Order: sequence, then C-alpha cells, then structure tokens
Amino acid sequence: MIQLTDQEFYGLVKFIRMHYGIDLSKKRLLIEARMYSVLYEKHLFSFSQYFEILKHDSSELNTLLNKLTTNHTYFMREPSHFQFLKNTILPEQQKENREHNLRIWSAGCSSGEEAYTAVMVMKDYFGTSSGWDYRILATDISTKALANAQAGVYAEESLKDLPSQWKERYFKKAGSEYVLSDEIKREVILMQLNLMEDFHFQKPFDLIFCRNVMIYFQQAAKSELLQKFYRLLKVGGYLFVGHSETIQHDTAGFRYVEPSIYRKDN
Ligand SMILES: C[S@@+](CC[C@H](N)C(=O)[O-])C[C@H]1O[C@@H](n2cnc3c(N)ncnc32)[C@H](O)[C@@H]1O
Repeated sequence: MIQLTDQEFYGLVKFIRMHYGIDLSKKRLLIEARMYSVLYEKHLFSFSQYFEILKHDSSELNTLLNKLTTNHTYFMREPSHFQFLKNTILPEQQKENREHNLRIWSAGCSSGEEAYTAVMVMKDYFGTSSGWDYRILATDISTKALANAQAGVYAEESLKDLPSQWKERYFKKAGSEYVLSDEIKREVILMQLNLMEDFHFQKPFDLIFCRNVMIYFQQAAKSELLQKFYRLLKVGGYLFVGHSETIQHDTAGFRYVEPSIYRKDN
C-alpha cells in the first residue's frame, strides 16, 4: 500500500484546513485508506504525484473532497430541532411573517436528509394548500453527497427515526432502498458551496441549520463562519448547530436559546 510521507501528510492537512476549514490532522490513516483506490486507479506511485495532478485539474479536487469529508447523516437527526421548528419557529412565522415566505438554509447538508426532514415538518404544519413558500437552500462541498441528495434514494437505516406515516407518504420502496417523492424533493434547492469562501445571498435567512459541520473545523474558521451566519440571518433568525457543538458568547453575538439553538436578537 502507498504510504503518505510526513511532508505529504502535513502539506495536505494544511491545504485542506486553509481552503475548507476541515481539520484532518488526526486522520492520517483515513486519508491513506480512502485515497488508496484513487491513486491505484490512476496508476500513481506516490501522493506527491497525485498532488501534482491536483494543481492542474480542479475536478480532481472534488474527488479528494468526496473522499475526505464525513457525510454521515439521517432523517430526523437530533429531533429536538424539528420540534423547535414546529412548536416555536413556525407559529412565530405564522403570526409575524406577512410575506408567507420562509428562508431556510441547510449549510453542510450532506445527502439532504436534514433539509428534506425540515420540508416534511413544514408540509405537516402548513398543509398542502398553504400559500407559504418554504423552499430550502441546501449546500455542501461534496459533489458526491449532493448527487445523493439529488437522487433521493436512501437505505432503510436512514429512515429509522422518521414517523411511519411520513415514511409511507413520502417514499416508495425499491428493493431494499427508499425513493423520496418529488413532492418533497422539489422544495429543496441543492448547490455546491464552500463555507470557507466569501458568499453572498440576496436576502437574509430566517433559519440556518449548520449541524455537525463545524466540529471538523479549527476554532478560527469556526468563528469566522459564525460571524458570516450572523450577518446572513434576519433579526430574530435562528441558528441550529449540532448537539455536541457550542458557541462561545464572545463569538458573533448570538443569544443562547436552548442547547444547540441560538438566535440573532439585534
Ligand atoms: C456530518 S455531515 C452533516 C450533515 C447534516 N448537517 C447533519 O447534521 O446530519 C458534514 C457535512 O459538512 C460538509 N462540509 C465540510 N466542510 C465543508 C465546507 N468547507 N463547506 C461546505 N460543506 C462542508 C461535508 O461535506 C459533510 O457533508
């Protein structure tokens, strides 16, 4: 098996951290294991040769990111967020939002389960002929994860926490897999976006999900991203992070609402 030299390893760790925020410094074996097949298919003998290819072929960067990102997720993950959406955010919106237009962003959406679950919650809440526009923007750096979100085909395991009536209503079984209906899929706009880059949106968001993404980021990248989220939220907008993540009071100005839920007050 081809081994990463120390120099190659530290070079790659630095490159990924600088451009994508992800800290791979403890993932040496994972890098070797996941990249081995790529090097093998290209008949390469060292990682240095691969890095040379990367310099000239930006599409190869997608292969690298597809291999090295952690994309594990499932429907209804961390259900208290979806309860909060249903019991707090949607009633607030119904009272105060005259445009009937909700702007939600699933940042680091992986294969789409988070955004699709939120759509199911909103469909349930508003009903079918509601007149509300609640399409969700869902972004990720991994083109493979986005292609899986686009396909909307999931293993049974991914649906284990979903209420059975939603499973029956929104999925068709195909062999051992479950195919998500267009009724849900069309409410989600998928896009590749690197959270470490400068990005702008025409209108601010009511809610941003960025769950289990920043856990792989170094503190500086995390603080910078939180400041971007703060700027991109409406006053009164919410940020959901993963349950194992916390936001320090001095970063960005978010108010703690309850575990892993923060709000922009002014
Ligand atoms: C573990 S998944 C989280 C999925 C979902 N949010 C959840 O909580 O289940 C983390 C995702 O963050 C994405 N990611 C990591 N770094 C990123 C970056 N710099 N820009 C955009 N997405 C990134 C990864 O590709 C991966 O799909």
